[in-house]
Amino acid sequence: MAEIDASLEELTDFCARSAAMLQTARTTEELVAIKEQIHARTSPLATLSKAMRNLPPKDRPRVGSMLHEARAELEAALKAAETRVNELELSARLAAEHDDIANYLYPGRLRGTGALHLITQTRMILEDLFTSMGFMVAEGPEVETEFHNFEALNIPKYHPARANQDSFYLNYGEPESTLLRTHTSPVQIRLMQSRTPPIYAVVPGRVYRRDTPDARHTPAFHQLEALVVDRGISFAHLKATIETFTRAYFGPGIQARLRPAYFPFTEPSAEFEITCTICGGDGCRTCSGTGWIELGGSGMVHPKVFAHVGIDPEEYSGFAFGFGIDRLAQMKVALKDMRILPDNDLRVLAQMRGVL
Ligand code: PHE
Repeated sequence: MAEIDASLEELTDFCARSAAMLQTARTTEELVAIKEQIHARTSPLATLSKAMRNLPPKDRPRVGSMLHEARAELEAALKAAETRVNELELSARLAAEHDDIANYLYPGRLRGTGALHLITQTRMILEDLFTSMGFMVAEGPEVETEFHNFEALNIPKYHPARANQDSFYLNYGEPESTLLRTHTSPVQIRLMQSRTPPIYAVVPGRVYRRDTPDARHTPAFHQLEALVVDRGISFAHLKATIETFTRAYFGPGIQARLRPAYFPFTEPSAEFEITCTICGGDGCRTCSGTGWIELGGSGMVHPKVFAHVGIDPEEYSGFAFGFGIDRLAQMKVALKDMRILPDNDLRVLAQMRGVL
């Protein structure tokens, strides 16, 4: 008898404790844990139910109705708790989503606004640099005539330099008369056709070549062209300009060098290279083990080019150079493979804010 009373007391206790816990539960996880306790095989509810069949018949109705009451009570408490927790969780989620949306709608609350692409940032830095040196910034079309892209630059038909820049021709006008420009040099022609010297201009822009992508090449990339035409311009001006801008861009630790080269539209011509920033000049995969990375070409404007645009080479001289903006960005942030630049992979794009 006393044993039954003790068990019933334990049951009442258990119900009271469970109900109290249900009332203060705030998450679905807490509810699940309490539910497990209630339904456990060792809970007073279960053990007492099991003990029923061994009770003297006269005690069974009393214990039975207590058990029934306890179950009903817990059931109701659980239902109420579930409703309350569901509402709590829903309003928390709505508040978070509202904040998310508000952060996009309200000025000044923006998180994750994105960033300018690395190439755009590089172009802007270069434009600043060259304008501070007295250059103007000009533009030209990406769809070019064969005349501007090749002919006027002293690259006649069947010249091997055309094969080097095997290109994307457009189905427009005469066959092979229109193409996606292979370099920014045709804008030299447009500048000299439309202006009278002195000309001090840089031209950033996208160019296209049928190159197979590798660590240093992508078929569409960006160049920056520089053109100076004035009286008394010499190779020393060219060299000093290249040295000044590479030092300003990369810092004093990086060296630039000129190497004799050939371009049909400059004479003499030189390639310019800088210390590979990936390996610091020791030689690596990106620089093909040479320790140097070629940035671009340069030289003194060829008299035949002046002839095409009607500038007197007896009165004026000039220099030009052109280099890859992508390559410059690659070297600045020591990017091993350039192919990720046009990929638009969010994991890469997310790192572009403030890298330069
Ligand atoms: N246009 C050349 C190229 O794309 C580079 C260059 C520009 C060379 C200006 C000389 C002068 O390879």
